[in-house]
Amino acid sequence: MKHLIDPTDLSLEETNDIIALAEDIIANRRKYAECCRGRKLATLFYEPSTRTRLSFTSAMMELGGNVIGFSDAKNSSVSKGETVQDTVRVINCFADIIAMRHSIEGAPLAATEVSRTPIINAGDGSHSHPTQTLTDLLTIKRELGHLDNLTIGFCGDLKFGRTVHSLIKAMSRYENVKVILIAPPELRLPSYIKTEVCDKCGIDYREVSDMESVMPELDILYMTRVQKERFLDEEEFDRVKDCFVLDAKKLAAAKSKMAVLHPLPRVNEILQEVDADPRAAYFRQVENGKFVRMALMLRLLEWAENDPTPSTSAFEGAVSEGHVCSNARCISNLEPVKPLFRESQTEPGVYRCVYCEAKAR
Ligand code: CP
Repeated sequence: MKHLIDPTDLSLEETNDIIALAEDIIANRRKYAECCRGRKLATLFYEPSTRTRLSFTSAMMELGGNVIGFSDAKNSSVSKGETVQDTVRVINCFADIIAMRHSIEGAPLAATEVSRTPIINAGDGSHSHPTQTLTDLLTIKRELGHLDNLTIGFCGDLKFGRTVHSLIKAMSRYENVKVILIAPPELRLPSYIKTEVCDKCGIDYREVSDMESVMPELDILYMTRVQKERFLDEEEFDRVKDCFVLDAKKLAAAKSKMAVLHPLPRVNEILQEVDADPRAAYFRQVENGKFVRMALMLRLLEWAENDPTPSTSAFEGAVSEGHVCSNARCISNLEPVKPLFRESQTEPGVYRCVYCEAKAR
């Protein structure tokens, strides 16, 4: 049985297969209308969402299945102190597959330690968002026709933007991908993505602090919102909140075939005047999210039926003695799960948390 916690839980072949299945669903909607008859999805959303939760719900309904769950953990027994793992043990009695969003980093991975059904990470804190990544890959494929030989500019909050972290991991497996990181110093990409992903995979990347100078190079411009909810210091948020704004004038310098993506919601980083430009792909991206989640659930349920043994690969080779995770928002510091660490492949002697990838201290 497979879970999807990190984009790399799917091999490149499995990722491409899910994208191809999503394209077939788009072309043949009726063919899939009964595929999940009698199946139930549980959406456990401990953090707000519009697109991800409702696209999962819509996806399962289009497959003929049903959906249970909560969109506000305050209305569940979490408010009485129930842990993530106990909640999952309970939901296993009611549903065939679980999509979980949590503000605590590593919570969905902790859920896999006890779950008898596939767990899908629907976003954990500022760590990872693999189903947004599948959405982004399908969108790039549909907009540009291919996933290799691309230059992608990631713009805005690259520090807390979990969709950026996940998409860089996924794109690192395609040929000849170049990455341009457009962010102010306060919002730069975390070093573990640079060392453990970009350096390890030999991705050509560079950091810049303005959008205009790189615009003509880009095949994809991936805009992001500055994530107010992740800042501990409001003054720091105020300093960077308007750092990049895409308007029609800046877009004029871009390639005619470039695509503008954004995981949404947007605040002020893309002006509404951009929406009418054919390169603005972010609302088409939302719809792709439903189709790719249909494809993902079909495959995870199929794999679980063929092999119900839970996968333990995320924990293989991990050690627990002598380390504590440095991330205060990690599940290993907030709930009773066993802290687990693995030695970095690019920084010998450095141990990283299995749940959130932060350094051990
Ligand atoms: N893209 C995304 O995750 O949106 P929601 O927060 O609305 O789910």
